[in-house]
Order: sequence, then C-alpha cells, then structure tokens
Amino acid sequence: MRISVIGSGYVGIVTGATLAEAGFKITCLDILEEKISDIKRGISPIYEPGLERLIRNGLDSGNLNASTELEKHIANSDVVFVCVGTPSNEDGSIDLQYIENVSKTIGKSIKDSEKDIVVVVKSTVVPLTTEETVQKIILEESGRGRETVGIAMNPEFLREGSAVDDALNPDRIVLGCTDEKSKAALMKIYEGHTCPIMHCDPRTAEMIKYSSNSFLAAKISFVNELANMCDKWNMDFEMVAEGMGMDSRISKQFLRAGVGFGGSCFPKDVKALRRAAKNDGLGSEMLDATLSVNEKQPEIVVNMAREILGELKNKRIVVLGLAFKADTDDVRESRAFNIVEKLKNENVEVIGHDPQATEAFAEESGITCTDDLEEALRDADCAIIQTEWNEYKSIKPEFLCNLMKKPVVIDGRRTFDNGYFAGTGVEYVAIGLGN
Ligand code: UGA
Repeated sequence: MRISVIGSGYVGIVTGATLAEAGFKITCLDILEEKISDIKRGISPIYEPGLERLIRNGLDSGNLNASTELEKHIANSDVVFVCVGTPSNEDGSIDLQYIENVSKTIGKSIKDSEKDIVVVVKSTVVPLTTEETVQKIILEESGRGRETVGIAMNPEFLREGSAVDDALNPDRIVLGCTDEKSKAALMKIYEGHTCPIMHCDPRTAEMIKYSSNSFLAAKISFVNELANMCDKWNMDFEMVAEGMGMDSRISKQFLRAGVGFGGSCFPKDVKALRRAAKNDGLGSEMLDATLSVNEKQPEIVVNMAREILGELKNKRIVVLGLAFKADTDDVRESRAFNIVEKLKNENVEVIGHDPQATEAFAEESGITCTDDLEEALRDADCAIIQTEWNEYKSIKPEFLCNLMKKPVVIDGRRTFDNGYFAGTGVEYVAIGLGN
C-alpha cells in the first residue's frame, strides 16, 4: 500500500513516521522545501520526544520518503492522508483555505489516473466538512465518480509531548468512512492495533473530535472555577480533586487547576465549534463559559503578585515556562502571553524563562527571554510559574533565596507539593491552594 501524507506539521509528520515504523511505504508531502529537506536529512520539523528516531528509522529502512512534488506522489498513492492545518478566522470560525487547496490538488492529481484512491481527512474539521467540502471538491475537480474515490474522516487524538506514544498506542481509533473501499484500507492500516475501533459516518467522526476537545477544555475551566472557590474558602483544591477523581465517572485526569488551557487545539477548537453552532442558530452557553473562564485565569496570578508586592511598576518579575505546557516548544495560545501582557501594562520589567521555547516566545512577545534559570531569577522580585517543567520541580529553596531580591513563587500550575517551601524563607502561593 502506497501512502502519502499531505502536510508535514505536527499531525502529518507523526502520522507519517509512525506508519513508516509499522512497515508502510510513506511519502510525507509539503509545499515548504525547508521542512521536506529537514525530514530527508533525518531532522524532525517539530520538537517531539521520540520522533526524530522514528524519522531516521524510516529513512534507513526506505519506508519513509519526503517530497514537495505533491501531484506526482498523490497520483501514485493508494491512500492519501490530509493533515494540513485548520487555523481560526478572526471571528473564531475555522479557516478551511488549506483544506480547500489540498482538495483541489488531490482532484487535479487524480484526474487522468485510472487508479482507485482513498482520501482520509485527519485534520480537525467542523462537522460536514469532509463530505461537503473535501469530497465535493475532489469529485468536481477530478471529474471522477464516488466508486473510485473512497473518502473517510479519521480524527487524531495526539497530545503534544507524547504524540509518538499516543500514535503507536492509541486508546481508540475512530473511522468515519463513506464507503467500503476506505473502510477496508483503514482497517488494513490499523490492523496492528488492539484498541477499540469505532465505525461511524464522517460527520460523527468530526463531531467526536470536537466534542472530546471541548469536553476536556470545559473540564479544565470547571475545575478552575472550583479551585478559585477553594482559594476563597481556604482549602486545597488538589485534595478536592483527589476526592473527586476517585469516582471513576469523573476520573483523575484533567483535574489540574491553573492559569488555563492553551495550545494549538483547545482554544481554536472550542471557538470553531461555538462559531459553527452559532452559524446554525444554536446557542452554546457551555462553550462560551469555557472560553471566558479561561480568559480570566491568568489575571489571578497577576493579582497574587500585586497582593504580595504592592504596586508592580518597575518590579522585576520572571515568568517561568513559556510553552503552553511541559515537554513541548510550542507557544501557541500559551497563557504566558496573557500573563506577560498584563504585567507589561503595569510597567513591570518582565523576563521569560523556558528550557525549550524562548526563541518563539521572545519573537512574538518582544520581552527578554532566556533558558538560563540563574540569569532569569537573579534580582527578581517574584517568579510566576506558567509551565510545570520538571526542571522547576527540582528547584531548591536556597537557590531562590540566594538569587532573588525577594523569594516569592506564584505557582500557576501547582508545580510544587503543598509544604515544599514551608519554613524555607520562600513565600509560596498557588492557584487553588487557599492560604
Ligand atoms: C489536546 C488533547 O488532549 C488531545 O487529545 C488532542 O488530540 C489534541 O489536543 C489535538 O486536538 O490535537 P494538547 O493540546 O497537546 O492535546 O495538550 P493537553 O495535554 O490536552 O493540554 C492542553 C492544555 O490544557 C495545556 O495548556 C495544559 O496545561 C492544560 N491543562 C491540561 C490544564 O490546565 N489542566 C489539566 O488538568 C490538563
């Protein structure tokens, strides 16, 4: 089976490299020369643990190839995965321009071919897109009939930082097929997996993806609201979460309170689903609340700083962690931007620290960023933790006392256990910790 993966971003390269590892002949396609030449030299276009090793394995075994010649490779493929980005428009709706362009390219590429092909949408797209946009454009552009062009929607559930492991060991596979041809091809591709495989139509598969992300995002906003109550009533939300998580219907996961969710998925997907619902005359109060709570959370750590330091003007505050979460260099929709913006508005001297993400963050925010913890903390009046990097968990209290002007830690991610700083001279406050 010859498989092409269009789009060599986060979803595409992980899909390509893991399928190559499983023994399929994969060509990763992208219009950006630089990405393709990196992949060909065994360099991963994104920072993701374990990915570069798989890319190199694929190149060595000959299972993985990369190219900018989209039409040629699409025409020779049995299966094509669509993995291009689906960013947000200004009004929060999904921007389908890349999906539309790729659908046209696929249509053109297969126009003169007799070969059957299966097109699988992996990009996150709002319900009905696979049938009403992708399938429609491909059939129109190619002039071919449905019987020779299989179409399916197969959402990805990868988490950044553990994407390779998630792709190799998924907890479910959702196949939204319109026809038997695409179903047979996808069953072959995923035959090595033992997890449940769910069959449905493409629009249901699209909705499963949005519903899963929106549910998790809502869960985070909900626990953030509860944590704020715990703060007010002086109790530790982590204990409340522990008690809640013992109920298997609730589960322990995604009960971490903090400065809110970021990343390339949750904020964008919640906005896109809300917009799509609104466009069809449906209210979405839960989605509205999920987003508005998330916007307010970063304010809490700034208020904590003001309570402890008084006027913030001309104070030196270090934001520890710029990536939207640990184990990634991705700063998209990172809550660090919201925190930095608020501090800048109060004329604070803001320094950013991150082990992986300084370059991208400095470029977008304009603040000074460093990956040197000592340099970041020196003479600081306060440190706000935005990302729960392991590197921060091992910070010794003496280190802070020796370097900082005032050893104050405001923990926006509950990085440290309650009591870690007790009696050390470090003033420690955290979201959902109470007094
Ligand atoms: C998320 C989903 O978890 C994946 O299942 C999905 O495939 C992916 O989006 C996607 O649509 O591609 P990801 O964005 O990589 O994955 O990150 P998560 O680990 O879900 O974290 C998202 C944000 O929520 C982070 O900012 C994290 O700090 C925050 N979070 C997470 C919390 O604030 N509290 C929690 O308890 C968990």
